[in-house]
Amino acid sequence: MRSPHRWRAVTLWTFALALAVLPIDVVAQTAEPVRASTGMVVSQHWLASDVGRDVLAAGGNAIDAAIATGFALAVVHPAGGNIGGGGFMVVRFPNGQTTAIDFREKAPLASFPEMWLDEKGEYSSDVHHRSAKSVGVPGTVAGFERAHKLYGDMDWQRLVSPAVAIAEDGFELSESLARSLAGFLERRARTPATVAQFSKDGTPYAEGETLRQPDLARTLRRIQGEGRDGFYRGETARLITEEMQRGDGIITRADLELYEARERSTIHGSYRGYEIISMPPPSSGGVAMVTMLNILEGFDLASLGHNSAPYIHLVSEAMRRAFRDRAHYLADADFVDVPVHELTSKAHGSKLRASIAADRASVSEPSDITMGYESPETTHYSVVDGNGMAVSVTYTLESGYGSGIVVSGGGFLLNNEMGDFNAGPGLTDDSGLIGTPANLARPQKRMLSSMTPSIVARDGRLVAVVGSPGGRTIINTVAQVILNVIDFGMNIQMAVNAPRIHHQWLPDRISIEGGGASAATVERLEAMGHTVRMGGGQGSANSIMIDPRTRDRLGAADPRRSDAGARGH
Ligand code: DON
Repeated sequence: MRSPHRWRAVTLWTFALALAVLPIDVVAQTAEPVRASTGMVVSQHWLASDVGRDVLAAGGNAIDAAIATGFALAVVHPAGGNIGGGGFMVVRFPNGQTTAIDFREKAPLASFPEMWLDEKGEYSSDVHHRSAKSVGVPGTVAGFERAHKLYGDMDWQRLVSPAVAIAEDGFELSESLARSLAGFLERRARTPATVAQFSKDGTPYAEGETLRQPDLARTLRRIQGEGRDGFYRGETARLITEEMQRGDGIITRADLELYEARERSTIHGSYRGYEIISMPPPSSGGVAMVTMLNILEGFDLASLGHNSAPYIHLVSEAMRRAFRDRAHYLADADFVDVPVHELTSKAHGSKLRASIAADRASVSEPSDITMGYESPETTHYSVVDGNGMAVSVTYTLESGYGSGIVVSGGGFLLNNEMGDFNAGPGLTDDSGLIGTPANLARPQKRMLSSMTPSIVARDGRLVAVVGSPGGRTIINTVAQVILNVIDFGMNIQMAVNAPRIHHQWLPDRISIEGGGASAATVERLEAMGHTVRMGGGQGSANSIMIDPRTRDRLGAADPRRSDAGARGH
């Protein structure tokens, strides 16, 4: 390991500078991905991409590299990289077979649907999203160990070792990470251990200073030596349960021991001859994205022009319908019957398509249900190895820096993923609460997610690896990267950079990224009956595409968020 790490990628500066002076749609038309002949890792921090790339170069497969990258992100990208959260891994093997590892957090045994109500029966958003009770039983370490036991090639200890080294030796803080940490400390740090972990006795770190995390290094060493037992049992389990007791949380030793990651069958769809592989429940992402693509397959999108008014109209109507299904049907399929087959069928797509008028916005019915808040921090990374094995990982603490609770002595942040359960039975209202039964908290249940790690193939060959953070916008971000590649023939960097839109049924409006549509386009959409909101950034889709001619790996780090890096060899 290099230590401390002092250099950064020229390409990243190029993108940052380009973005500083050019509107994003211009960058989208000019950008080139990073090219490599063998393996590629694209993640939200270039240091973690280096770690994964080094594993590939040392002979590890894509799963090995994904595990090492994931542990490194837990050190260098504390807002979303984690060992105290959970997520999903979608894998496509060189022979075309696929699998998914579900390491989503689970509700503790003491959970119940009304757990976010106070003594007077009033719903408390603070308890739901910002308390020790908002912490789900973490899944990341179990998920990585499961993936490694099933499909890894390289020694486990070697995969954890770079993260240990960076936590111990420290790494240099970029301007954006120093700023992000300072903001977090000011607004959301919840415990003295959190302040100790991310500041110098309460004084924020400045750009260029070195962040060392010795408690985290010790926890990672236990995981390195004992695998999942180094987290779910012994010293780490003791530290987690003590933290829970101090903060009125409900996770017990039994919850930690019982946690298990699950291997699941992937969601499969097709779009204009391409195979779409994505994450099944407890993610809503794969199902909702395939529904959208099935609707859109019946329209000639390319002839409409990218982000033209008719294009945005049709895509947002498809989004509206897929998100309505999501609210009605999707939840943890271990607890609730989810009609996955029906929702992802071409027949369902055709039926929904038939309900779309060519030039008139539909109306979302708030009386059906309304959608809750999801915060903007999670992280996605993509890996392809020399044999063509592809791994797509999205994992999260839910909010940026999760619950804001660092486990004292453990050096890692706990998630606030319980906030992804519905608010409480019958609590659906116009303010944004949902109270439908499918996604209510129950012991051992996994909360519904929007994370959509995905892989595209065609004629038995790998085409692309895609995913993003961004709460509910994730599903739409991933769908648009795929549309940009398939319908508009963009290279992967252009497809990632191009401005995105979002519609999630309720609230009934289209959000369009800054520079994503002209005033005339917005006027046309409004004339069709749409409400349009311009501005803001959407997601961070760190993606890979395979050059169909040379089979080179093309890595695209998303320029929307700092520090991301594509690393190939
Ligand atoms: O699982 C989910 O869908 C959310 N907890 C993800 C949150 C998220 O993406 C925040 N990201 N930027």
